[in-house]
Amino acid sequence: MPLAFAGPNPAPVPVHIVEKDHAAAAIAALPEAGQHWAATQGFVGNLGQLLQVPDAQGGLAQVLVGYGTAQNRARGRFHLGAVVRQLPEGVYQIASGLTGTALEEGALAWLLAGYCFDRYRKPIDPVAALVAPDGIDAARIQIIAQAEALTRDLINTPASDMGPEELELAARDLARAQNATISVTTGDDLLDANFPLIHTVGRASPREPRLIDLRWGKSGPLLTLVGKGVCFDTGGLNIKPGASMVLMKKDMGGAATVLGLAQMTMALGLNLRLRVLIPAVENSIAGNAFRPQDILQSRKGLTVEINNTDAEGRLVLADALALADEEAPDLVISMATLTGAARVAVGPDLAPFYTDSDDHAAAIAAAARAVADPVWRMPFHDPYEQMIEPGIADLDNAPGGGMAGSITAALFLRRFVHSPYLHFDIYGWQPTAAPSRSKGGVGMGARAILAALPRLLNL
Ligand code: BES
Ligand code: MN
Ligand code: ZN
Repeated sequence: MPLAFAGPNPAPVPVHIVEKDHAAAAIAALPEAGQHWAATQGFVGNLGQLLQVPDAQGGLAQVLVGYGTAQNRARGRFHLGAVVRQLPEGVYQIASGLTGTALEEGALAWLLAGYCFDRYRKPIDPVAALVAPDGIDAARIQIIAQAEALTRDLINTPASDMGPEELELAARDLARAQNATISVTTGDDLLDANFPLIHTVGRASPREPRLIDLRWGKSGPLLTLVGKGVCFDTGGLNIKPGASMVLMKKDMGGAATVLGLAQMTMALGLNLRLRVLIPAVENSIAGNAFRPQDILQSRKGLTVEINNTDAEGRLVLADALALADEEAPDLVISMATLTGAARVAVGPDLAPFYTDSDDHAAAIAAAARAVADPVWRMPFHDPYEQMIEPGIADLDNAPGGGMAGSITAALFLRRFVHSPYLHFDIYGWQPTAAPSRSKGGVGMGARAILAALPRLLNL
C-alpha cells in the first residue's frame, strides 16, 4: 500500500485545524446550522477532537480538527494522524490552521496514519486521502513517508521471511530502483575478504552471514551508513530468556533504518556520495557457535575477548565500521538496536546518539525538533574506556558490572572509526500504537539525520 497524496479530484473536503484558543472564532465562521451542530457535539478545540460538519444534503461539507494548546501538543507528535482513521473514506485538504514545519508534520502524520503491515492479513479499509498541501515540499514528504514504510515493513517481517538473504534481496531491490550498485560478500568468502567477526557471529546459522555494500552518487561528500543487520538474535550460547528474545526479529532495525534513510537520500537526489554497509547475520546456537572467552581477531587487527555472545551487534559492526573507515569518508553514521541499556536510559521514544562533535550534535538536535523525530545526545565518556579493556585482549565485548551499557558499546564501536562519526543506539519498535505509529517496527532518527545533512556535510 503506497503512502501517497491524492490528486485534487474529486473536490476535497476542507479540513480546518483549530487551536483551543481559536475554537470560538472557528465555530462562529460556520453557517448557522453548523454552529448549533458544534454546540450539540461539544466541540471546543480539544486536541484530537473531531467535528464533521454536514451540508444541507447530508453530505460532508467540512471538518474541524481540535489542536488543543501548545502544552497539550508537546506531550506527543503527529497529532493529526489520530483523526485520519476516524474520517470517512474520501479526499481531504488541509484548508487552514497549519503552516511551515507544523504543516509538514501534519502532512507526514496523515500519510503515515495510512501505514499498515498487511503482508500476512487482509489489508485494512482504505483510509481518508489527503491532497498534497501547498506551501511545503509535498514530494519530499511523500518520499520520506514511503521510506519510513520500507523501514517498518523490513522490521515487521518475521525472521522466518527476513533472514540475511532476504535482507540482501531488500537491499538489491532498493539498489535497482535507485540505480545504485551493490556487492555482497557471503559465507566463507567473508574469511577470505577479512571480515572475521561477521563470519564468527553468523556461522552457527544455516542462513549464511554476509556483508552488503551499496553505493550511489557520483559527486559530493561521502556519507557512509552502517546498519546492524542481526535478523534474529537468540543471544547465541548466552541464550536470551524468552521474554528478552520475543522481539528479536527487530534486531535488524538499524539496517532497516539506514535502508530507509538511503531511500530518502537517493530518491531526493541529494548531492552526495552514499555508501551503505550492512553486516547481515543470524545470531544462532549450534555446535560451531562462538563461545564465551573466545578471543577473536577483528578486521582492523584489534583482538576481542568475548564475554557474552549476546553482545554480537558491536562485533559485526566493528568489521563493517573498519571497512567504512578505510576510505576516510566525510561522515560515518551507524544505527543499531545495540543495547537494552539504551532503552533503560531513554525509553522507546527517543533515539540516543553519540558524537564527539558539538556542532554535529547541535545540527542533529535542531533538525530532530524541526521534523518531530526526537533524539538525545549521550556521551562518549573517555574515562569508561578502561571498562572495555579486558587485559588479555585489546577489547572486551561485554564488560562485567553492567554499568553504562550503551556508552561502553558506543566506545567499543568508536575504536574502529577515525573519520567523523555519529552512532545511534535505537530501539526500532513502537511498543503501543500512537498517532501515525502503529504498534511494531518504526524508524528512529532517520528523518532527523536527513534534515541535518546539509549542516553535517556542508551540502
Ligand atoms: N539486540 C540486543 C540489544 C537489545 C535488546 C536492543 C533489547 C533492544 C531491545 C543486543 O544484541 C544485546 O543483546 N545486547 C546486550 C549486551 C550485553 C550482553 C552486554 C544487552 O543489551 O543486554
Ligand atoms: Mn544480542
Ligand atoms: Zn542484538
